[in-house]
Amino acid sequence: MNNFTYSYPVKVYFGKDTTETALTTELKKYGKNVLLAYGGGSVKKNGVYDAVKGILEKEGKTVFDFSGIMPNPTYAKVQEGAKMAKENNIDFILAVGGGSVIDCCKIVSAQALEEKNLWEMEFDQGTYPSNFLPMGAIVTASGTGAEMNNGAVITNEERKIKGGMLGAFADFAVLDPELTMSLPMKQVISGAFDTLSHCMETYFGQPQEDNLSDDINEAIMKSVIQNIRTLLKDEKNYHARSELMWASAMGENGILKIGKVTDFQAHQIEHQLGAYTDCNHGQGLAVIHPTLYRHIYKEAAGKFARFAKEVWGIFGEGKSDEQTAAEGIDALEAFIKEIGMPSTLKEMGIKDKEMLRKVADSSNVTAGCCKKLTADEIFEILEECAE
Ligand code: NZQ
Ligand code: ZN
Repeated sequence: MNNFTYSYPVKVYFGKDTTETALTTELKKYGKNVLLAYGGGSVKKNGVYDAVKGILEKEGKTVFDFSGIMPNPTYAKVQEGAKMAKENNIDFILAVGGGSVIDCCKIVSAQALEEKNLWEMEFDQGTYPSNFLPMGAIVTASGTGAEMNNGAVITNEERKIKGGMLGAFADFAVLDPELTMSLPMKQVISGAFDTLSHCMETYFGQPQEDNLSDDINEAIMKSVIQNIRTLLKDEKNYHARSELMWASAMGENGILKIGKVTDFQAHQIEHQLGAYTDCNHGQGLAVIHPTLYRHIYKEAAGKFARFAKEVWGIFGEGKSDEQTAAEGIDALEAFIKEIGMPSTLKEMGIKDKEMLRKVADSSNVTAGCCKKLTADEIFEILEECAE
């Protein structure tokens, strides 16, 4: 195992009706002015907005709404939030939503205290913010694990880059599975697949040798697969939703990454696809994963064979690692079809080949991937994903 230091700053309130407990306990630590951030309006339809606003007001806070944070949040939206935070002397940011709202707030939290352009600081100069407005997160759509880390995936529309930025950690996160009940099933599955993807991206990182983090990871992958299947039969199953919500958090709370350099190659390609098409994150990953893995598995056949056996129950006796590994990737692909996720870019309405070349040319190549891909190979993968 690689050396590591582990400590975690996010306090989690998990379970039914935990919003009020969390807010009444935590809000006392912050000043009066609260930026209440949310997306396109789902929180108003399902009653979460009224409930949260009511608690904030009861706690004597002055609430400023920062609304309309879109899926795949843009850097322009971050600037809008930072401007609001500065103009209204905001003391605390409360993000209520899925990964997009939470990510946007992580960067608003930093940009609100920074005069320099954060994108230029992080991407051009390699410097990172260290002052943040405190923030909390109430999760209404699970899967990204965004509430547990300080990474934020932001789309810079001018530069055509959907990139990972570093911002604030939430001081606390509320994970109430009941709040996900109004999420459309397609998005529930997409989020859960994102969690599975995070697990795989970590599992196949370096070094390849087995370690405790991978043992825990296998348990989470199996749990995600099983609970997606449960939800497909019984949409409102609270137990399955709560399991998926905690699995999502576990994927991004650092535990699985201990002692490892993660892969995240599928994510890098998907993010750039998102920069060009604004596509759904989980769906893009579902299309990319099997094809990407067929391009790389021979470089880590032992690990892919273990994945096949432990996660998918493939029988390995009398087979080479490569054979077993290939059957594991087939099982992953079959699962993607079984749960109704897209297997081709065409199914996602993405057809433009010239654009795919640009995606390939602008995708990062990660250090943790078992094979260092070239832009041409990424293009080949995307072409194979096309239909
Ligand atoms: O905007 P509203 O109206 O709230 O609707 C949202 C949005 O349309 C809706 N929604 C959320 N909670 C709901 C609900 N609808 C009904 N009932 C509820 N309870 O769901 C839609 C999608 O929301 P979004 O936040 O975009 O989804 P998700 O949580 O999947 O987040 C995706 C973003 O997170 C990034 C992705 O790239 C993408 O930009 N990621 C962030 C990561 C991180 N910070 O660690 C890791 C991931 O790999 C990922 O890249
Ligand atoms: Zn993801």
